[in-house]
Amino acid sequence: MYSGTTDSEADGFSPRIVAFFCNWCTYTAADLAGTSRKTYAPNVRVVRLMCSGRIDPQFILKAFNQGADGVLIGGCHPGDCHYKEGNFKALKRSMLLQRMLEDLGIDGKRLRLEWISASEGEKVQRVINNMVSDLTQLGPLTLFPGTDGSFEGALQEASPMEHQMEVEQ
Ligand code: FES
Repeated sequence: MYSGTTDSEADGFSPRIVAFFCNWCTYTAADLAGTSRKTYAPNVRVVRLMCSGRIDPQFILKAFNQGADGVLIGGCHPGDCHYKEGNFKALKRSMLLQRMLEDLGIDGKRLRLEWISASEGEKVQRVINNMVSDLTQLGPLTLFPGTDGSFEGALQEASPMEHQMEVEQ
């Protein structure tokens, strides 16, 4: 059960989270959490993908750009990916994106990757509640536009080109 009050909560802030879940593991675990009546904070909107490796960095940046305070990626445990190494690609991309976000002054805790198997409904509950708590402490995400007035522009200005190329791989 989600509980606890912080200054941000007292101010009425409730973080918005976009979650990208792999169909074969974390999405099934989220379903299991629901059928097992494991309550988690209602702040999350889940997007189902066939594999965490399908996540394009643009999906994450778009989520932030359109109002998400945090993005959660859920994938199969290492060695369990149905497409062999999709989850390793997701790990690499998320680490690079965290660096790029931090270049913009955005706390890396706003992007989180977790390995959650289909049987770990309790972990879905715990991770979501924990992330809501972290984001509530951080407060709403504020994006500062680049000189062209866009978040994408700020990202390009703040991040060395090699970051972008690595993320795209
Ligand atoms: S199939 Fe689940 S992370 Fe690849």
